[in-house]
Amino acid sequence: MKNLEGHVVIVTGGAAGIGGAITTVLTERGAKVIAVDINEEAGAEIEKTHPERIVFLKGDVSKESIAKEAVRIAVSKFGKLTGLVNNAHASRQKKLMDLTEDDWALSFGTGFNASLYFMKASYKELVKSKGAVVNFGSGAALEGQPLQASYAAAKEAIRGLSRVAANEWAEDGIRVNVVCPLALTEGVVNWKNEHPEQYEEVAKKTPLHRFGSPQEDIAPIVAFLLSNDSKYMTGQTVMADGGTVKLR
Ligand SMILES: NC(=O)c1ccc[n+]([C@@H]2O[C@H](COP(=O)([O-])OP(=O)(O)OC[C@H]3O[C@@H](n4cnc5c(N)ncnc54)[C@H](O)[C@@H]3O)[C@@H](O)[C@H]2O)c1
Repeated sequence: MKNLEGHVVIVTGGAAGIGGAITTVLTERGAKVIAVDINEEAGAEIEKTHPERIVFLKGDVSKESIAKEAVRIAVSKFGKLTGLVNNAHASRQKKLMDLTEDDWALSFGTGFNASLYFMKASYKELVKSKGAVVNFGSGAALEGQPLQASYAAAKEAIRGLSRVAANEWAEDGIRVNVVCPLALTEGVVNWKNEHPEQYEEVAKKTPLHRFGSPQEDIAPIVAFLLSNDSKYMTGQTVMADGGTVKLR
């Protein structure tokens, strides 16, 4: 399927995990991708898979200058920007009372601030292309999962921002949606090793009885939300979580 031919998309955290799968699937469907990530090794690897279609930008998404640089690269290298995927988000799991200023700053800096910086930096180009934004939320935030206070708060702030942007930017022809994934990435495997009981609980609660595959189950939903097939959808939160949460 080449339904993203002509699309130029920024993917934050686009070198590994779900972001890496998104970079790969978008590229396979014809898009050009600027993958922004702090992981230089993974970035160089993914760039090699389609050097004519993927540009890796090494950078910390919590810095506004990186967002501006990513947009500059999209325009100078590929002539436009049609999509933005705010996927990167780092955080530490601790009890609410143990979270430090630095922990809060990490989650809000890489999650909420980064999403805002990239949306602001992309806006003018997305107006021109009538593009789409896909932000990332989390079932853990919707459920208020223990040890996830800084993460959950930033994720719900991202969903609030996304709904407002969907309403304000509708007249510009820009759509903004949110995906809440559940996928077996390296990060989730580490979490599974640290908190095996929580992992078992989540897998058991999942109606489809498994964690999703980043490439087969999550990235195609992001591709759909960037494509013309979802042109009548905006301001939505799409649960890509095996049926765990049913939003109403
Ligand atoms: N994996 C899941 O099941 C799950 C569940 C709910 C929500 N999510 C959300 O999905 C998204 C992707 O999750 P994941 O599991 O693939 O994450 P991950 O931690 O495995 O990968 C994130 C990528 O972002 C990069 N990154 C981290 N901090 C960065 C920074 N400051 N600047 C630039 N790049 C940075 C990492 O190097 C990595 O390549 C996140 O928003 C996460 O919160 C994931």
